[in-house]
Amino acid sequence: MEHALKLTGVALTLPAASGPVEILKGVDFAIAPGESVSVVGPSGSGKSSLISVASGIEQATAGEVVMLGASLKGLGEDELAKLRRGRVSLVFQSFHLLATMSAYDNVRAPLEISGFADVDARAKDALDAVGLGSRLHHFPGQLSGGERQRVAVARALACNPKLVFADEPTGNLDSKSGAMVAEMLFAIARDRGAALVVVTHDLDLARRADRMVEMRDGRML
Ligand SMILES: Nc1ncnc2c1ncn2[C@@H]1O[C@H](COP(=O)(O)OP(=O)(O)O)[C@@H](O)[C@H]1O
Ligand SMILES: [Mg+2]
Repeated sequence: MEHALKLTGVALTLPAASGPVEILKGVDFAIAPGESVSVVGPSGSGKSSLISVASGIEQATAGEVVMLGASLKGLGEDELAKLRRGRVSLVFQSFHLLATMSAYDNVRAPLEISGFADVDARAKDALDAVGLGSRLHHFPGQLSGGERQRVAVARALACNPKLVFADEPTGNLDSKSGAMVAEMLFAIARDRGAALVVVTHDLDLARRADRMVEMRDGRML
């Protein structure tokens, strides 16, 4: 497989009260297997929209997204879920952990849903890798912001995905915990051979990637 992800002429136009809004205006972008790319650009430039379309959360209005060799064009929810299962992960700014589950169960449950056999060992290894081996049975509410995001990183990487999307993963963290999360995200993605697309405002974080691209007004510069 030549690319982990390839976008060709991707546009996203959404309806709004005042008429259609062009959010992405023909984006071409590709990332190789195992490569890391950071996406920077001003607020409102379309970075989160890019992640939504590239990860299949939202359908492109025009152009094509090819994820792990498969076009997302015309895929239904089930086919898309099947394509992503265990191979594509997301990390969000606001962690998106389930409050009623322990750190361990937050990491373990998606592995189980994806049909992995060795879910216990995988979940534990992933939490060990983010330094939370001693916090397995803590609930999100009992963890700091940085620790919560490390659980989210463990959850994202536990399946050994081919492709990881992270949208402002350190955006809700102080600089010290943000640096730690970034360190772990890049290190584990590299160890496990995942391609990584990271949206960030933080230039220190952005510079850790193999390559940096910039969004401006719905276009990639
Ligand atoms: N559902 C939507 N409907 C209309 N406009 C939207 C929607 N989502 C985002 N936008 C607009 O699209 C532009 C890009 O947003 P976004 O991708 O969130 O930018 P960024 O992540 O770079 O801050 C912004 O102008 C935003 O207001
Ligand atoms: Mg955003």
